[in-house]
Amino acid sequence: MTTFKWFIVWLTMTISAAAYLSYQMFAAEEKPLFLPNETTHGHYQIEMQCSACHTPMMGVKQDACTQCHAQDLKDGQDSHPENKFSDPRNFDMIAKLDARKCITCHTEHSPHTTGDMGVTLPDDYCAVCHSEIGEERESHKGLEFNSCATAGCHNYHDNKALYEDFLLKHYGEDDHRFDASEISLEQRMNKTVPVADYDGTVDPEIHHHWSSTAHAKAKVNCKDCHQPDSAVEWSNKVSPTTCQECHQEEYEGFSMGKHGMRLAAGMSPMTPKDARLPMKSSAAHKELNCISCHSDHRFDIKRAAVDACLNCHNDQHSLNYKNSPHFTYWQIDSFGAKTGKGVSCATCHMPRVKKNGKVVVEHNQNATLRPNEKMIRTSCQKCHGLQFSIDSLADEKLILENFKGRPSKKIESLEWVKQREKR
Ligand code: HEC
Ligand code: HEC
Ligand code: HEC
Ligand code: HEC
Ligand code: HEC
Ligand code: HEC
Ligand code: HEC
Ligand code: HEC
Ligand code: HEC
Ligand code: HEC
Repeated sequence: MTTFKWFIVWLTMTISAAAYLSYQMFAAEEKPLFLPNETTHGHYQIEMQCSACHTPMMGVKQDACTQCHAQDLKDGQDSHPENKFSDPRNFDMIAKLDARKCITCHTEHSPHTTGDMGVTLPDDYCAVCHSEIGEERESHKGLEFNSCATAGCHNYHDNKALYEDFLLKHYGEDDHRFDASEISLEQRMNKTVPVADYDGTVDPEIHHHWSSTAHAKAKVNCKDCHQPDSAVEWSNKVSPTTCQECHQEEYEGFSMGKHGMRLAAGMSPMTPKDARLPMKSSAAHKELNCISCHSDHRFDIKRAAVDACLNCHNDQHSLNYKNSPHFTYWQIDSFGAKTGKGVSCATCHMPRVKKNGKVVVEHNQNATLRPNEKMIRTSCQKCHGLQFSIDSLADEKLILENFKGRPSKKIESLEWVKQREKR
């Protein structure tokens, strides 16, 4: 072959390689090319959006973590916020472990050195700053430091359900106690059928579904969703930002949790095919947006609370839910008995909380997921004593069984607090 032919071959290969590389860098969301290693469970869904965390030179942005997580930590009443360490008396601690920076303890793309929640520290890291506790506290004498942060005792950030005062206040409660006061949603419905504002032919089924909902009752008509701006044409598609116009808190929660995190990062919607958790194969291509749970026009919140979830989720814990006493009571409630004892997936993962002065459904399903003691105040305590709740959530096998059966061990901290009070 002549040198010229070789040159053509070389040129073609170089151009296609360059094209491939730039496609990978700028267009393909799918295949990580330059990721140094696997990203954590928390972030891999947005791993291809390098700029969410990195500067163009691949340093980590100064405020990357707090931009997305400041609210989580605030809601969790962070026990170890940055300002605790600005006190000069604590400078010797910082010399050993600079707890002012998130990436001292959390890192990315390092699966062999990170545990749950991307944490890089050894289990006994509390000792770095609290080495004296074994001597000062009767109850803590002889405890190993790697036991401080085991389930049910302490967390580094969120201790809302684990503070001493809180434990004391709820000491000795019964396992089961019922003062649940879920808002009855049927009460909102009324019987008059409103008229649709759509001037095309209204599909009778759509009209029927819409007219029986809270939307029709609240005079939210066809065009409010399909033509929110009268200067723009009617569209059969409705984007989550249209829902946001009227449901700001729900939209924000959705954006901060797993389900909405890709949309929030400016990426394509999440679909079950990209999941690491087990998902139903039939749902592989379903997109996550407001109507993945609130199927259009019916907006049936009962369906959204269980059946919708089980259309996608396929792990042991989710599948075991239907064998639990929680589900049994939920069915009884669905038939109209109103015992108030029923528990749906949403009761635990999307509880009703106060935001901006109103009661809304927390649409960030990660807000109470980990560490799981976050669920105690928003959910379990409505119906169970604190000791029973802490013990249940510390029992991994019981979680897998979706809470069928009793917790297998007892967490001692409530007893310790009680004894300390007596002295
Ligand atoms: C959710 C935030 C986040 C996203 C998204 C992210 N990274 Fe990172 N990355 C980090 C953090 C945190 C570190 C660790 C920095 C440290 O420990 O100093 C890191 C470290 C790195 C490193 C240095 C690794 C080493 O071993 O020194 C490279 C290279 C890197 N990231 C590339 C990427 C690329 C390329 C992307 C996009 C394809 C990406 N990252 C997406 C958070 C992120
Ligand atoms: C673009 C927004 C964004 C940025 C930037 C970001 N995160 Fe996250 N992070 C999320 C979302 C969304 C989740 C998944 C929902 C959740 O677990 O709260 C998550 C999950 C996590 C989790 C895991 C929680 C769990 O339940 O497993 C930790 C820990 C965490 N982030 C810490 C960090 C740290 C440290 C940084 C800085 C290096 C960072 N995040 C940067 C949005 C972000
Ligand atoms: C001294 C170590 C340390 C530092 C510094 C630290 N974290 Fe954490 N973080 C942890 C540990 C340990 C966990 C695991 C859960 C726990 O014990 O609270 C965690 C859990 C989390 C979680 C998930 C659980 C939750 O309570 O929301 C988020 C989000 C998080 N950290 C964000 C941050 C951010 C943002 C910063 C910086 C402002 C930061 N962390 C600084 C140790 C640390
Ligand atoms: C980098 C140092 C550092 C590390 C690591 C650390 N702490 Fe702390 N901790 C502090 C400081 C500083 C205070 C505030 C002390 C004060 O106000 O007197 C504190 C306060 C506390 C308190 C009491 C007050 C409160 O607001 O909750 C508890 C309990 C506690 N830490 C437990 C832990 C546990 C458990 C761990 C490990 C999971 C841990 N700490 C890791 C520095 C640290
Ligand atoms: C609260 C918002 C809302 C209201 C009110 C509403 N729709 Fe819809 N509609 C939707 C959503 C969401 C979809 C699904 C869009 C998508 O797939 O992106 C939809 C889809 C449609 C479609 C497409 C075909 C289909 O079945 O998916 C038609 C036609 C339609 N709506 C007509 C109507 C009419 C007529 C009314 C009034 C009687 C109405 N809509 C009221 C939200 C609404
Ligand atoms: C023009 C304002 C408006 C728009 C747009 C809108 N909604 Fe609503 N929505 C309402 C009002 C008002 C209610 C009744 C509120 C109440 O009773 O508290 C409601 C109630 C609901 C409910 C509760 C239903 C029930 O049975 O209690 C759900 C779920 C809901 N909307 C979802 C959506 C979704 C998803 C979208 C986007 C497809 C959307 N909404 C768009 C105003 C709107
Ligand atoms: C993962 C499923 C899921 C997704 C996605 C979802 N919702 Fe919901 N939503 C629910 C469930 C479940 C309830 C009712 C919970 C209950 O009754 O216990 C609910 C209730 C509501 C309500 C009525 C209660 C309240 O908060 O006042 C509104 C309004 C609502 N959702 C709007 C939205 C909007 C807007 C979006 C998109 C940003 C959205 N939802 C996405 C599951 C979902
Ligand atoms: C359209 C499919 C779909 C629907 C409907 C759906 N989910 Fe999800 N869910 C997902 C996907 C995909 C993820 C991300 C899983 C992953 O990345 O491994 C997820 C994540 C979660 C997580 C976070 C898991 C973690 O470890 O961070 C929880 C909790 C969750 N979903 C609960 C629910 C509940 C409760 C419902 C019903 C109210 C529901 N989901 C409805 C697809 C769905
Ligand atoms: C009584 C409360 C409760 C009920 C009911 C419940 N869960 Fe959970 N769920 C939990 C707890 C606690 C965890 C574990 C959190 C942790 O420690 O990581 C969990 C974890 C999960 C996870 C994350 C699994 C993982 O490996 O990351 C998903 C997804 C989930 N639940 C979905 C569902 C679905 C879907 C339903 C209904 C079919 C449901 N859950 C019912 C309390 C509950
Ligand atoms: C709305 C009320 C309600 C909420 C909220 C609730 N539960 Fe329950 N729970 C019940 C009822 C009712 C039973 C069945 C009691 C019976 O069999 O008489 C039950 C049973 C249990 C059982 C099985 C007990 C046994 O003896 O078999 C466990 C474990 C449990 N719940 C844990 C939890 C945890 C953990 C949470 C919070 C994440 C929680 N529950 C939230 C009402 C609730």
